[in-house]
Amino acid sequence: MERSVSTEPDVDHSALLARVLSLTEGEQDQIALMATVACEVHHSDARFDWTGFYRVVAPGLLKIGPYQGGHGCLTIPFDRGVCGAVARTGETHLVPDVDAFPGHIACASSTRSELVLPVRDGAGRLIAVFDIDSNKPDAFVEEDAAALGHLLDAVFARP
Ligand code: SME
Repeated sequence: MERSVSTEPDVDHSALLARVLSLTEGEQDQIALMATVACEVHHSDARFDWTGFYRVVAPGLLKIGPYQGGHGCLTIPFDRGVCGAVARTGETHLVPDVDAFPGHIACASSTRSELVLPVRDGAGRLIAVFDIDSNKPDAFVEEDAAALGHLLDAVFARP
């Protein structure tokens, strides 16, 4: 199927959640979980051009984790980019125009907008950020942020 050029959401968030929970049932390994989430989310919607994780590997430091799309930057300090801002603040960032975000890191010059969410384990520790980039401006809606936040909690913070 051709990827659509629409900026309208295609994803059925509840079907995506059900699929991810079924695929990852009983799995505890964080990398296996991240790889499965990155794959399923990436292919769920034509708006998503890069989808993946940056893992917290040291105080103030993120390293690339499982992803789909073109190659990503390997290392992001907490004081750089949208991913760094999410890691620093612990808050989801929906960025409709990356050029208007001070310090945005352009791993791909085609990226126009992005959505980055914190990822916490069951103890509430920040283990990663989840980054979705789109080549379309203003591609993300609040519903994406809410539904994907719920999905990340369901996968990474479950007992
Ligand atoms: N755009 C991100 C960097 C990660 S990549 O684009 C894959 C940022 O500013 O944090």
